[in-house]
Amino acid sequence: MFNDRTTPLSLLRTRRSGKPRDLIAPGPSHAQLLEMIEIAGRTPDHGKLFPWRFVVVPDAERAGFAVALQKILVMEKEDCGPRDLEAAEQFAMQAPALVVILSAPVVPHKIPVWEQELSAGAACMNLLHAAHAMGFAGGWLTGWAAYSDAVRDLFGKEGERIAGFVFIGTPARELEERPRPLLSDIAHFYAPGDGRGG
Ligand SMILES: Cc1cc2nc3c(=O)[nH]c(=O)nc-3n(C[C@H](O)[C@H](O)[C@H](O)COP(=O)(O)O)c2cc1C
Repeated sequence: MFNDRTTPLSLLRTRRSGKPRDLIAPGPSHAQLLEMIEIAGRTPDHGKLFPWRFVVVPDAERAGFAVALQKILVMEKEDCGPRDLEAAEQFAMQAPALVVILSAPVVPHKIPVWEQELSAGAACMNLLHAAHAMGFAGGWLTGWAAYSDAVRDLFGKEGERIAGFVFIGTPARELEERPRPLLSDIAHFYAPGDGRGG
């Protein structure tokens, strides 16, 4: 089901995430990764501020990232044990490709930070769509590392935030669908006085 990429609409309808730990080779080539990011950069943003950045963690740097993550975890987690360290290593090493998306709002600016952050989320989503369109699956994770200033400093600077770690590769097994909201629960037509805020 999640392989139907035959039409633009089927691409949109069939995209779903792969669990990063279940993503295996082949991953995108260097050129494919850059193309995905170029596509993801075509994201709406109020004011043409481009308030996001994509940082690719190259293959040769993945192990170094794992060690850096472990060091930060030891500093930040009081009761950090071997399992935590193993989890941090697995996090950094999973899936063939890793792109860190940074929200990089322009502050102060008349465009509210909220809008700039929304755009960063949309950029992550666009990257997932591009990966799917190119025959791969992506998975968007955050977790403690996304909220650590020390981890942020590995990729960016003060004022920036990690919007997501997007892992990209080929699903090891067929992707399963997950529950989706009922259209009637999420879509309404504005009708004054119906109790939904109209
Ligand atoms: C901002 C954001 C952060 C997420 N962080 C995590 C995470 O840390 N761990 C996790 O298991 N899933 C996380 N998810 C959920 C996964 O990305 C999940 O695979 C996704 O919601 C599945 O939706 P899809 O099938 O439509 O792609 C996150 C989702 C978003 C939007």
